[in-house]
Amino acid sequence: MGQFLAIFHYLVVFFLFAFLLGEFLILRLGVTAQSLKLLRRIDFLYGFFAGLVIVSGLLRVFWGEIPSSFWFTNYLFWMKMALYVAMGVLSLPPTMDYLQWHRSFRKNGTLPSQTESRRTSIWLHAQLGIIGFIPVFAVLMKG
Ligand code: HEM
Repeated sequence: MGQFLAIFHYLVVFFLFAFLLGEFLILRLGVTAQSLKLLRRIDFLYGFFAGLVIVSGLLRVFWGEIPSSFWFTNYLFWMKMALYVAMGVLSLPPTMDYLQWHRSFRKNGTLPSQTESRRTSIWLHAQLGIIGFIPVFAVLMKG
């Protein structure tokens, strides 16, 4: 069971990273009508997989090989959680931007400028920076 949960945790984290990088690259290339559609789809999948990461992580906390009491009193584990929460907060502005861009595109056919999409990409850049640190805490928290 522990091994299965570990595989599941790794896989959903890899997908999360792939969607995050995908959004970042699309924004850096500039948003077109097609890529706006793709961005919204990828962002939905990103949210879905972010939820799966939480589920897989909680399963490891409660049904993993290490007793859950070890995690509750582990400050490195809580550091990892804090970084993940920070990623969640930083993911909100891009989602709001995509919704707004979609609305203006449907209303009057306008797309965000390169400057606007680059500004939005900063939020993703910050998340990419944070996600790189999470595995460090994931390894250190095991002692
Ligand atoms: C709410 C979110 C999360 C929770 C509750 C959680 C929980 C856990 C737990 C309890 C373990 C250790 C399980 C064990 O060894 O028995 C673990 C391992 C790990 N987690 Fe997470 N995790 C979360 C998010 C993430 C994220 C976002 C990443 C990566 C970006 C990540 C990467 C890892 C890695 C690489 C390990 C394996 C470390 C090793 O086996 O040496 N986790 N996680």
